[in-house]
Amino acid sequence: MNGYSFFSSRYSLGLLVAITGLFLIPLPAGATFTGQCSSCHTMHNSQNGATVTDWSSWGEGGGPAFLLAASCIGCHTGDNTSSSVALTNDTDAPYVLGSTAPTYNNTGTGTGSNTLAGGNFYWVVNATTNKDRKGHNVTGIVAQDATLGLTPPGGTAMTQQLRCAGAYGCHGDRSIADPYLAMEGVHHGKAMSTNFRALENTDGTAIAGLEDADWEFQATDGNTSHNQYKGTSRTTDTDEDTSTISSFCASCHGDFHYGAGTAGIDADAAWGSPWLRHPVDYQLPASGEYSSYNTTNDYSVVSPVASQTVTSALATVTPGTTNTIVMCLSCHRAHGTPYDSILRWDYKSWPGGGYNGCAICHTAKN
Ligand code: HEC
Ligand code: HEC
Ligand code: HEC
Ligand code: HEC
Ligand code: HEC
Repeated sequence: MNGYSFFSSRYSLGLLVAITGLFLIPLPAGATFTGQCSSCHTMHNSQNGATVTDWSSWGEGGGPAFLLAASCIGCHTGDNTSSSVALTNDTDAPYVLGSTAPTYNNTGTGTGSNTLAGGNFYWVVNATTNKDRKGHNVTGIVAQDATLGLTPPGGTAMTQQLRCAGAYGCHGDRSIADPYLAMEGVHHGKAMSTNFRALENTDGTAIAGLEDADWEFQATDGNTSHNQYKGTSRTTDTDEDTSTISSFCASCHGDFHYGAGTAGIDADAAWGSPWLRHPVDYQLPASGEYSSYNTTNDYSVVSPVASQTVTSALATVTPGTTNTIVMCLSCHRAHGTPYDSILRWDYKSWPGGGYNGCAICHTAKN
């Protein structure tokens, strides 16, 4: 499609981007939502006599809703720059699907990278090998995963392909099927401050955590410019705090987190090694190799740890306390990465190549 120019008449950003056959509209002005309503909403779905949004072509499930002039993916497609992520920038959304190949380097952190905390869906669409493994296959972005289909490993099959939000997705109210209705009010402030990244569990509990102002753009170790994720220091496999980020992942990948018997991370009666699956919502021991987490105990943005209280973002952490909790996001990102199994780093190719992110915790195994 071409010739669509709802925004281009008024905003310099009004270029159309065509990805996977969908026509996506870059974000117009007004990210703080103090801007012009017309930047994001269309009153009659008409501009200069032409239709503004064709919901049926968006392919994201749901809609139409809230007189929106663009889709979730439309507004959230683009390339992050230091100015696009700046707190003072009212023009750009946090971009989760690159218009061009993002720079990830080894870990998606530090100078030169331009992905955000969740990584990027670019590779699940565009990687030349194993692309399905490089991200969550969200409808409207890419077709369903050819190997995994609708079944989250460790969980039960879904009845619809994953969506950005709602009952078949991750953001917003998980009891509402339509992704737009599930996000109602969120962009205008509702739940933004209480729900970490507008996430909640299937029981309605808000996922706790502190949000980094620039979504971890070019984050570095040992300072407070990062998300602070919520974890819990568990002592049994069935102990479940549904406000943690790992419990959130477990709402679909249940067995990888908790459960009795061979569900969960520990199959035998005694809590601790030998584990059945890699521990999560489990705090780093004070002794042994874990005591020198990230060498000097600086908070690592490469293999981060969660904390049981999330009152401030931590520059340093203390193994043996509840501010060093292993979580799903210690090793994975939520949206996508250039690496298989959506890993934060290329574990599979190390040694010889790749990157050993495991060594941030397993300091004696590098
Ligand atoms: C930067 C984009 C943006 C701007 C500017 C914006 N909105 Fe919205 N608005 C959204 C999005 C996205 C949604 C739908 C999802 C949601 O509610 O979070 C929405 C939802 C709404 C809703 C329904 C949900 C609710 O909160 O009640 C209303 C009403 C609304 N907007 C009114 C306005 C008005 C009035 C203005 C101008 C003062 C405005 N918006 C400016 C993006 C924007
Ligand atoms: C709403 C359900 C849902 C939630 C919540 C969810 N996932 Fe998934 N996940 C899926 C489905 C479905 C698949 C299989 C299809 C696919 O890859 O998209 C999957 C696949 C994966 C894969 C394998 C990708 C591959 O192809 O190798 C990883 C890794 C993963 N998820 C990690 C996570 C993490 C980490 C979280 C929490 C941040 C999470 N998931 C939250 C549904 C979910
Ligand atoms: C009209 C454009 C627009 C649409 C449509 C839109 N978003 Fe957004 N979204 C934005 C902007 C702008 C921000 C950044 C707000 C800010 O600066 O804090 C944002 C922020 C977010 C955030 C981050 C919240 C945080 O914690 O910082 C999430 C999650 C999100 N959107 C999800 C969605 C989902 C899911 C949909 C579809 C149901 C959607 N968006 C539709 C423009 C949009
Ligand atoms: C955020 C810190 C962290 C990261 C990153 C991490 N681990 Fe671990 N790992 C732990 C902790 C904590 C334990 C459990 C120690 C205990 O038993 O008390 C553990 C245990 C293990 C065990 C032993 C299981 C058992 O039954 O005793 C293996 C094997 C392991 N990890 C492999 C890996 C690999 C491979 C990676 C990288 C893909 C990795 N880990 C990344 C913290 C981490
Ligand atoms: C210590 C690092 C680490 C942690 C913590 C971790 N994972 Fe993984 N995960 C991996 C690695 C490495 C793989 C690649 C396959 C392998 O080596 O077993 C993987 C693979 C997966 C897969 C794909 C499995 C398949 O069948 O292809 C899913 C889904 C997944 N992880 C989800 C999760 C969820 C959900 C959590 C939290 C409850 C989690 N992971 C915690 C390292 C980790």
